[in-house]
Amino acid sequence: MTGVRAFFDRHAFVAAESRDVGRTPLRIVLCGVPIVLFRPNSGGIAALEDRCPHRGVPLSIGHVDSDTIVCRYHGWAFDAAGHCRAMPGTRDGQPLGTPRVTRLSVIEHQGLVWVSLTPEVLLPSRIKALQENECRFRWRATWNAPIIDVQENFLDALHTHTIHAGLVRRASARRPIQASVSVVDDGFHVDYTGQPSQSGLLYRLFESRRTLERAHVSGACVTQLEFAYAAGWAAWITLCCTPETKGTTRIYASLHVRGRWAPSWLVRALAWPLLARVADQDRDILERQQHARADFDGRPYITTPLDIVRPFLEATWNGRLAEMPARRETVLSI
Ligand code: FES
Ligand SMILES: [Fe+2]
Repeated sequence: MTGVRAFFDRHAFVAAESRDVGRTPLRIVLCGVPIVLFRPNSGGIAALEDRCPHRGVPLSIGHVDSDTIVCRYHGWAFDAAGHCRAMPGTRDGQPLGTPRVTRLSVIEHQGLVWVSLTPEVLLPSRIKALQENECRFRWRATWNAPIIDVQENFLDALHTHTIHAGLVRRASARRPIQASVSVVDDGFHVDYTGQPSQSGLLYRLFESRRTLERAHVSGACVTQLEFAYAAGWAAWITLCCTPETKGTTRIYASLHVRGRWAPSWLVRALAWPLLARVADQDRDILERQQHARADFDGRPYITTPLDIVRPFLEATWNGRLAEMPARRETVLSI
């Protein structure tokens, strides 16, 4: 994968959950770059590169004083815009010159803190479309795998018969379906048609006849599975993935449900143990994949026409999605 750092210059990522950011500086890593988050007195959240421009000490080991974060080493203080506001040792404590720290744009949206190096945070369209009151469940994790492999795994139907045998699908129940990939505004989606029901336990326990099954990629970091049902309800499973480093991905996941009685406590009690099992199985296979990649020096993968999502994901991360065919149809036996 190329260009994750370049992508960071153009796109928004989830840095943290709102509840984790307070008056104590919070250090996170985004695309290999340490960032410090804190809440200034005047409100909002500040996000700065976690490096004092004086001698390079992490600002996150300092403290917050009013609207500034104060470096632990010599006490220089920086505001939310990254400007130095105090420099102890000068006659009046005022800064010499105009030292600055790179700042990121920040917004809070439905419990998550989004950051970007663009002047304004542009939320992915699939995130803007989610209704907070329809959220039934949130979950987060850090997996030792590159973001593109995590995203591919989430969207890939062809491993579900093997890795999640019986739970998501059964190999003995494979049937041909049509998969259509379409490039859209800020990403692409895949429509699966011809399979209104699914063979696994999860479907039998919690779902009913589907009228829509669509996988989305939106704003690069968001992957989402969308389902609509003949009974009139709909559900979305959304993964906001943040590349912490090249080989580590933070995942902020949620389940939204519309038009069906599904209180959060019930979802947590009944569905979560099974969904957590699916997540464990995915994390396990991805970590094994990464170990093998390391053993074989990152030898390239074979991609076949069955791997419908991979070329579009790679184009997304390489900034070449506009060069992909606007629509691609494939028959898959799932
Ligand atoms: S290293 Fe930060 S003030 Fe000196
Ligand atoms: Fe999976």
